[in-house]
Amino acid sequence: MPIVPNLTLNNGVTIPQLGFGVFQVPQGQTQRVVEDALEAGYRHIDTAAAYGNEAGVGAAIAASGVAREEIFITTKLRNGEHGTAAEAFEASRRALGVDVIDLYLIHWPVPSKALFVDAWLAMEKIYAAEGARAIGVSNFLQEHLDTLLAATTVVPAVNQIELHPTFQQAALAAKCRALGIAVEAYSPLGQGADLNAAAVIALAQKRGATPAQIVLGWHLGIGNIVIPKSTHLNRMSENLAAAEITLSRDELDAITALDAGARIGTDPAEAAHTQM
Ligand code: A2P
Repeated sequence: MPIVPNLTLNNGVTIPQLGFGVFQVPQGQTQRVVEDALEAGYRHIDTAAAYGNEAGVGAAIAASGVAREEIFITTKLRNGEHGTAAEAFEASRRALGVDVIDLYLIHWPVPSKALFVDAWLAMEKIYAAEGARAIGVSNFLQEHLDTLLAATTVVPAVNQIELHPTFQQAALAAKCRALGIAVEAYSPLGQGADLNAAAVIALAQKRGATPAQIVLGWHLGIGNIVIPKSTHLNRMSENLAAAEITLSRDELDAITALDAGARIGTDPAEAAHTQM
């Protein structure tokens, strides 16, 4: 099984740098998919209350026989629950069937509601009570980080953002790193689209790897935490094996050159996602 490196977060907690994301995995398939991912060797699972599949993740973990402390679990606070984070956290713990969440994130800042500071203050209490080993944010732009840091005490451990070769958010990622906030990439393969880039294909041929392994190797090489999603066991294994690929500086630069501002998801400055 490939050995996935750990990164150390700003509070000393370690996180497997390559994890498995379950965004868009239907609840009915989630237990099977996560059991497959654990079987393939993933030890870091990323879900969210809004995905509606926390119970499937919890069932897979319980059925897997893998010790709870060997699995890093991330879940996220729904947009509609910024004012009721303590209750939402309890609901997530119950759905997952665990006492402690390894990483709890604010899913979106929803600036139109202006409640993310309140949510964070509640999450600081959850963290202090050791309900979560680390707390962080997702989809935060620079202005949201500035507002949060000016009003609160705990610096987020991570910012989980859309990040892939054709959409790198370089200024935001650099700011996070300067603040000690780990950069976690969602849609790391560009939801599959970035696998068709000529530079990715050329490097895959040169290195005897697959395009997905090249893109994931790039993320790992530049220090991102990364959570690719697949419902297929063979692709789960293929993606996990990217942990064994080390790209050279020139190879990393060839992928970095693909940045094109190609956002797939919504702009967090606008997004309310009230359904999430
Ligand atoms: P599938 O779930 O059918 O395997 P991202 O993680 O950037 O959101 O990308 C996920 C998308 O990329 C999914 O559509 C997934 O399809 C596809 N995908 C995941 N891993 C691979 C791979 N190794 N090769 C090709 N496509 C992949």
